Amino acid sequence: MMFVSVLILLIVYFVLHKSLQMEIKALTELEIQNLRQETKGTVGKIHFNNAGASLPPDVVVETVISYLQEEATLGGYETEFKYKEQLENTYVSIARLINAGKDEIAIAENASTAWTLAFNGISFKSGDEVITCEMEYVTNLIGFVHAKKKYGITIKVIPNDIRGNFSMTEFEDAISEKTKLIAITHIPSSAGGMIPIVEIGKIARKHNILYLVDACQSVGQVPIDVKEINCDMLAVTGRKYLRAPRGTGFLFVRKAVQDKLDSIFIDGFTVQWVTEDDYKIRDDARRFELYERNRALTLGLGKAVDYVLNIGVDRIWQRIQFLSRLMRQQLKGINGITVHDIGDQQCGIVTFSVNGIESALIKNELAEKQINVSVGLAKSTLYYMNKNHLTAVVRASLHYYNTEEEIKLCCKELVLLCKEVEN
Ligand SMILES: Cc1ncc(COP(=O)(O)O)c(C=O)c1O
Repeated sequence: MMFVSVLILLIVYFVLHKSLQMEIKALTELEIQNLRQETKGTVGKIHFNNAGASLPPDVVVETVISYLQEEATLGGYETEFKYKEQLENTYVSIARLINAGKDEIAIAENASTAWTLAFNGISFKSGDEVITCEMEYVTNLIGFVHAKKKYGITIKVIPNDIRGNFSMTEFEDAISEKTKLIAITHIPSSAGGMIPIVEIGKIARKHNILYLVDACQSVGQVPIDVKEINCDMLAVTGRKYLRAPRGTGFLFVRKAVQDKLDSIFIDGFTVQWVTEDDYKIRDDARRFELYERNRALTLGLGKAVDYVLNIGVDRIWQRIQFLSRLMRQQLKGINGITVHDIGDQQCGIVTFSVNGIESALIKNELAEKQINVSVGLAKSTLYYMNKNHLTAVVRASLHYYNTEEEIKLCCKELVLLCKEVEN
């Protein structure tokens, strides 16, 4: 008996030790060069606007174009029939990427559509409470305000603490028997911090409260596992860190909650059967799609997801963290620049401002040097920007295909701009 217990302990120790030791294999210089060669857009400019839209791999673009060409020659329905399996594989790949079931995925045009379908599927009534965070995206904020006006719901915004971290204590205190929904943006549009969606999910599930995650900036950047997050719904876009074409996205809805949500748009595709006076909604997440949608882009989305899976999202995340840390470090060393990102967990979105120069002007000046950055406007992340008295920030959002050299060049241009202001 004693011998068996010791043996079990030894095995547990060995497994734990091994898993702690399991290291993520960093992307090598050669791999980065190869990946860049597979993306036309990396030539001749520095693209630091991946949180806007990243550069798609050539294979994604070619997939979409050749599908459209086949549609034009074979016919739309005939081409769909020919690529039936590949189109289906997009759902399979997405499900694999976020550890969901294929029947829990609906393809959408973008994250706002996906989020809105989930949010508006909930039957709110007066007095219901929605708990959210200060990093919430504008579409979601508008959704809350709309539901407040229409049904009389209450919105509780949990502020980050002084160090930029989501307050789990305030969050738990905010939960009441009236809490209908917890809606959280994992990675905000205009800040580098992150919200602890796994920890929040544990509490949401413990209280059996619906949990909707905006993972628009996360999927393709950070490993996302819907089972680990314990979320009921997750909204995602294609064009950002997934490197898919514009006009793509998806919604995850956990099987067990699908019947609790209303389908806003219904057509012949979204029902199992229809009679002259009744119908039955289909029993998978595609109840949130309609029959007519863009097949070429669906195929492109699938290719982009496969591309991520081939590289490994943990390796992507490791590289993004390395590059963004480096950029923040270099920016902090420039006189006249303030880096705004705080919080223990930070991502590939680097935000800053330059004393005495409007963010829009910085963006334009850098664009003249073939460096793409964007401007994070107050409205995009309104609770956070208002709280911090920010009207706009420069947003440099990095992806794995960016390089240390590109960061150096961008910072060099910023040094020159700061010097011009000084003189
Ligand atoms: C955090 C976040 N959520 C949602 C969205 C909306 O995504 P989409 O434009 O695909 O609807 C964005 C877009 O920038 C975003 O940054």
